[in-house]
Amino acid sequence: MTSLLVTGGAGFIGANFVQYWARNYPGDKIVVLDALTYAGNQASLVPLASHPGFRFVHGDIRDRELVTKLLIDDKLDTIVHFAAESHVDRSILEPDAFIQTNVMGTYDLLETVRKVWLERDAAPSTHRFHHVSTDEVYGTLGPDDDAFTEETPYAPNSPYAASKAASDHLVRAYHHTYGLQVSTSNCSNNYGPYHFPEKLIPLMIVNALTGKPMPVYGDGSNIRDWLYVEDHCRGIDLVIRKGRTGETYNIGGNHERNNISIVREICSLIDRRFEHDSGLSRIYKESPPASGKATDSLISFVKDRPGHDWRYAIDASKIESELGYEPQEDFESGLARTLDWMLANEPWWRAVMDGSYRDWIDTQYETS
Ligand code: NAD
Ligand code: TYD
Repeated sequence: MTSLLVTGGAGFIGANFVQYWARNYPGDKIVVLDALTYAGNQASLVPLASHPGFRFVHGDIRDRELVTKLLIDDKLDTIVHFAAESHVDRSILEPDAFIQTNVMGTYDLLETVRKVWLERDAAPSTHRFHHVSTDEVYGTLGPDDDAFTEETPYAPNSPYAASKAASDHLVRAYHHTYGLQVSTSNCSNNYGPYHFPEKLIPLMIVNALTGKPMPVYGDGSNIRDWLYVEDHCRGIDLVIRKGRTGETYNIGGNHERNNISIVREICSLIDRRFEHDSGLSRIYKESPPASGKATDSLISFVKDRPGHDWRYAIDASKIESELGYEPQEDFESGLARTLDWMLANEPWWRAVMDGSYRDWIDTQYETS
């Protein structure tokens, strides 16, 4: 039996991961530690409420006393570290929290773990600290550049990417210096259920349903490599169970798309849903198809993000060849599943949005 501490488990990927783990390893103990920032939502953990071995702890990864107690009392042997500030636009406007949580928080966690796991008599015989990171640490690619491999030099461009790069280096150093059994995964853009509606895909869906402008930065030509969140969870699972200690693994979906094509695809998916389900027009009265208009009438090109990385692409051949990783969801079906989830879970996204952040950010990105 594995006893896991999942930091940031009330966030988007963390909540999907905890649900994935509970389904696949029902006998394991899972303790979620989450500070419940604006991005953390206990409602995303409701499906686990009656799961034996699951426990939610409201707290901060920087609270060394609390984390020490959890590691000892719950005899935890595995950490999956998701907790982070994760939104690039916020990191541009207010970088402080990114340094505090992503850099200092990871450092606090590593120090606590080192003291409990490596210095106490009661340390578990095997342990694993898995660090969840991003492809953004590698910087940006031109149209003909090869995709990022694990050997690509770090070149972070946003405060978010720089803070994640710093945390990756700390994790690496704790392995080399102290022998902490670590692994790191660097993943491309995720999408799927429980995604906070400030990121591209859920924001576009929510704005389309509620009749608000769909803000595309610059000319919409920027490219991301999209991965359905459950495929990311599957990759992390493989790395934790079979990955080599001290190694990093890139996880990606081989689904490179530019932003405007994704936004247009969301628009036509929504148009088709309204066509087939007349009830939607009664629920989402402000959405263009409710009054016979096309959803893409909401697309609005706005001022570009400062320092906007042009292209990300992941070369996942290491995890594929070493660990047998293969994504299972293709982009079209994953996007349709995501829209279905949003339509079936309106109370979830209405509750996580109070609107104030979006109003504020809209003033930073006026229509061009
Ligand atoms: P998220 O913003 O949805 O969730 C982050 C969670 O961390 C929230 O529940 C928040 O409450 C919690 N948290 C923040 N600060 C904390 C602190 N000091 N102590 C405890 N909990 C704290 O993020 P996400 O999109 O789920 O990303 C999870 C991880 O995956 C991050 O480390 C991110 O860098 C990485 N990642 C994300 C993507 C993506 O596309 N979203 C891609 C690759 C890697
Ligand atoms: P985002 O979901 O914020 O992820 P990341 O910046 O980590 O890749 O953005 C994905 C892409 O979509 C990125 O190129 C910026 C762009 N974007 C928009 O065009 N409009 C928006 O409102 C948002 C949030 C993002």
